[in-house]
Amino acid sequence: MFIQVNNLKKSYKTGTVTTHVLNGINLSLDRGKIGTILGPSGSGKSTLLNIIGGLDHCDSGSVIIDNNEVTKLSDKDLTDYRRNKIGFIFQFYNLIPQLTAGENIEVVSNISKTPLSIDEILKDVGMLDKKYRFPNELSGGEQQRVAIARALVKNPTLLLCDEPTGALDFSTSREILKLLQKINRNFNTTILMITHNEAIGSMSNRIYKVRNGKIIEDKINENIVPAERIEW
Ligand SMILES: Nc1ncnc2c1ncn2[C@@H]1O[C@H](COP(=O)(O)OP(=O)(O)OP(=O)(O)O)[C@@H](O)[C@H]1O
Ligand SMILES: [Mg+2]
Repeated sequence: MFIQVNNLKKSYKTGTVTTHVLNGINLSLDRGKIGTILGPSGSGKSTLLNIIGGLDHCDSGSVIIDNNEVTKLSDKDLTDYRRNKIGFIFQFYNLIPQLTAGENIEVVSNISKTPLSIDEILKDVGMLDKKYRFPNELSGGEQQRVAIARALVKNPTLLLCDEPTGALDFSTSREILKLLQKINRNFNTTILMITHNEAIGSMSNRIYKVRNGKIIEDKINENIVPAERIEW
């Protein structure tokens, strides 16, 4: 197993109120596969993904990635883990507005141990010709391509995507999904993706449904649909 999450629990305290967000999550995914997390708003999806990616701490349970227990790492080792192993993609791209597309990627490439070539990655995502554009000179789909290139340049073993197409229209979403599927195939990158869109599940190997901080369904999908054929 590449991802192994065991009995993960997390609650938040605000004043005297405790909200139990993750109530014993168990999840696993093999290397090189795509997993999709579905569930209603507030069910704990982002909290789960952030703990897997080392952006947040859990209360109990464990996350093991590639035989490495992430939930036991010191802060320094956790920073190295995030920096070298994990690529994050968010709904709103999170590019730095004052930097060009190329420079946004360079920032990450500069701090990673085994970066890939910026131009190669820009070519892979179809954005080499827009390398010198600023984010506000790009469409939403183009900004997301740059964000994907930024996540990929560090050659991550795990790509975590939180609603990567949440802000995009249908056809642009499908282009982004095609790109993620291509990355998965070409680099064997394991992808764990949150979405509200049930249709997106059909392009993934494993589909998890989350409700109230628990996995209520865990399904292996034998019939992978190419992203270009997904309809919603
Ligand atoms: N820092 C925090 N402090 C207190 N409560 C929080 C915090 N972060 C998240 N929560 C609460 O935890 C619950 C789960 O949040 P989370 O963001 O994981 O949900 P989600 O499934 O990603 O929802 P969405 O689909 O809307 O993105 C929500 O009730 C939220 O209000
Ligand atoms: Mg969320």
